[in-house]
Amino acid sequence: MAVIAWKSIYETGIVALDNEHRGLVQEINRLYEAVRDKRGEAVLADILAMLEKYTVDHFQHEEKLLEEYHFSGLAEHQKIHQELIDEIQEFKKRVTSGTEDLARELLTFLRGWLLEHILKVDKEYGAFLESRGGRFIE
Ligand SMILES: [Fe+2]
Repeated sequence: MAVIAWKSIYETGIVALDNEHRGLVQEINRLYEAVRDKRGEAVLADILAMLEKYTVDHFQHEEKLLEEYHFSGLAEHQKIHQELIDEIQEFKKRVTSGTEDLARELLTFLRGWLLEHILKVDKEYGAFLESRGGRFIE
């Protein structure tokens, strides 16, 4: 496992959303470095707090655009977002025990989730929004 290097294939084409995705990749890389250096425990609470805020802000942003431009897959997309919000809450509940292992588990989960979500789910709205609102819609 190594840090995630941002690749153009991760881009949805919507600049504002891509910037938010890049921000999340940076945070996951921060967690990666901490886990690698056996200090996952020290950053775990901080990363979970960041994720709680990020999921609200970023998901609302995405959903607002999908709604505004009448994207037909909105409900399905919202469901997938809610699943991540629920997962984060589950991790939070477990923070009291075995936090070094938990940090590692969170890292594996986030990397998988993010790459899968950006590459498959978010990509579906990319071309759609770009053709209607352009790449600089906010
Ligand atoms: Fe999404």
